[in-house]
Amino acid sequence: MELPYVELRELTLTDADDRYQLCLDKEVIKHLNMPSKYPPFSRKETEDWIIACMNKTNGYQQKAIMTKEEKHIGWVDLKNIDKLNKHAELGIAIGDKTYWGKGYGLSAMKEMLRWGFDQLDLNKIWLRVEIDNLKAITSYKRIGYVEEGILRQDRLRNGEFVDRIRMSMLRSEFLDK
Ligand SMILES: CC(C)(COP(=O)(O)OP(=O)(O)OC[C@H]1O[C@@H](n2cnc3c(N)ncnc32)[C@H](O)[C@@H]1OP(=O)(O)O)[C@@H](O)C(=O)NCCC(=O)NCCS
Repeated sequence: MELPYVELRELTLTDADDRYQLCLDKEVIKHLNMPSKYPPFSRKETEDWIIACMNKTNGYQQKAIMTKEEKHIGWVDLKNIDKLNKHAELGIAIGDKTYWGKGYGLSAMKEMLRWGFDQLDLNKIWLRVEIDNLKAITSYKRIGYVEEGILRQDRLRNGEFVDRIRMSMLRSEFLDK
């Protein structure tokens, strides 16, 4: 099946309003690594975050996911970039639920993986996913992520410690596709 087209572009300050709105959907943010308060981020916090991403002062390479109609539907990032060992951690959210289950997550991940392996010269791109985030786990397996192990009580979510699965994709596995 052909994946839908997406463009990954740098964040701009005008994305702050969309981002604030996308983070109001409790189903979207349930499994995201965010504070347990609601909303997870104020408008000011959202703007500050975007400015930090634009200025590359927070260690994140975070990009906006755009459809071919130029609709901003979510974000994907690489962080914990370990240049010495050539690996980084991926995170993703399709924040507009009407775009779930249509291949947009896979398409955005593929673009980010390609960028990470080509532009950042990484050898491995890994991620952490909460053990009960079945939708995301299915998506990651579908694109070829391999399970590395269980990180016990790795996330404090609403006062409860939750295990996370660590998964990864090697450059050689990605290029094989
Ligand atoms: C996890 C997440 C990024 C997955 O994104 P997604 O776009 O919904 O998922 P995918 O790209 O894998 O979509 C694949 C589905 O689309 C279907 N699909 C429809 N058209 C398709 C196409 N052209 N190409 C590929 N798949 C297509 C597939 O059959 C599959 O359906 P299924 O899951 O019912 O089997 C998204 O659900 C999300 O943002 N969740 C909330 C935040 C979150 O949990 N992030 C991860 C934290 S670790």
